[in-house]
Amino acid sequence: MGAHIVFLGPPGSGKGTQSVLLGKKLKVAHVNVGEMLREAIRTKSPVGVTAREYLDRGELVPDSLVIRLVGDLLSHPPASNGFILDGFPRTLLQAEELEKLLEGDGGKLRHAIYLRVSKEKVLDRLTLRLVCGACSAVYHQKYSPPREKGKCDACGGGLTGRNDDRPDVVARRLAIYEKESQPILDYYRKKGILREVDGNGRPEEVTRTLYEVVGVK
Ligand code: AP5
Repeated sequence: MGAHIVFLGPPGSGKGTQSVLLGKKLKVAHVNVGEMLREAIRTKSPVGVTAREYLDRGELVPDSLVIRLVGDLLSHPPASNGFILDGFPRTLLQAEELEKLLEGDGGKLRHAIYLRVSKEKVLDRLTLRLVCGACSAVYHQKYSPPREKGKCDACGGGLTGRNDDRPDVVARRLAIYEKESQPILDYYRKKGILREVDGNGRPEEVTRTLYEVVGVK
């Protein structure tokens, strides 16, 4: 059975950037819960209709909805063969429910990776983030700009800022993260699977540290 890994850390800490790379390296599914919710909003599915107001305000979508969404996904291939979960769990209840879901399938979390990043860096990263409207690839105006201004390198789609990267919404997201994250970190620390990674450096430096921490060459 493949690796089961979760990524924790504040908004803009680089969870998406690093978890995609690790997923490719380990050849396991990368599951980005925020992106699943944004896709649901784009397609106006029932989940999207409910989730929209929470994302717009920078608040967490109710546990019941997200747990159902993740539970459905993890019980089917490719995620049932191992996964990198990006943006889940975000509450202690989600962490406990994830453990139950895995136990039901005879699986176990191997690592809970915590990307530790200063608040100044987070603000700098989020205010200048760009996202492709077509394929969701992520760029940064200063640190990882596209080759051609405003155009996605991968698919040529248009690049814009994310709706929830407005300063007022970022402040709300950070406040909620500060309130909810400590119990989750304590939960995984007690289980002996919390791996702290300094996420303040350049992307390639963070990747190097991350691979060392999880024992990947
Ligand atoms: P989500 O999309 O998961 O947002 P988030 O956790 O706030 O994280 P971000 O995507 O903003 O940042 P990231 O850490 O992935 O950083 P990235 O790699 O993009 O969730 C959005 C919303 O969905 C939530 O607010 C909530 O409403 C809802 N939601 C999601 N999961 C939920 C759950 N479990 N329960 C309830 N609700 C849920 O990097 C950021 C920028 O920095 C990019 O521009 C990138 O290029 C750049 N960058 C990355 N690394 C570096 C580096 N090392 N140096 C310089 N720049 C870097």
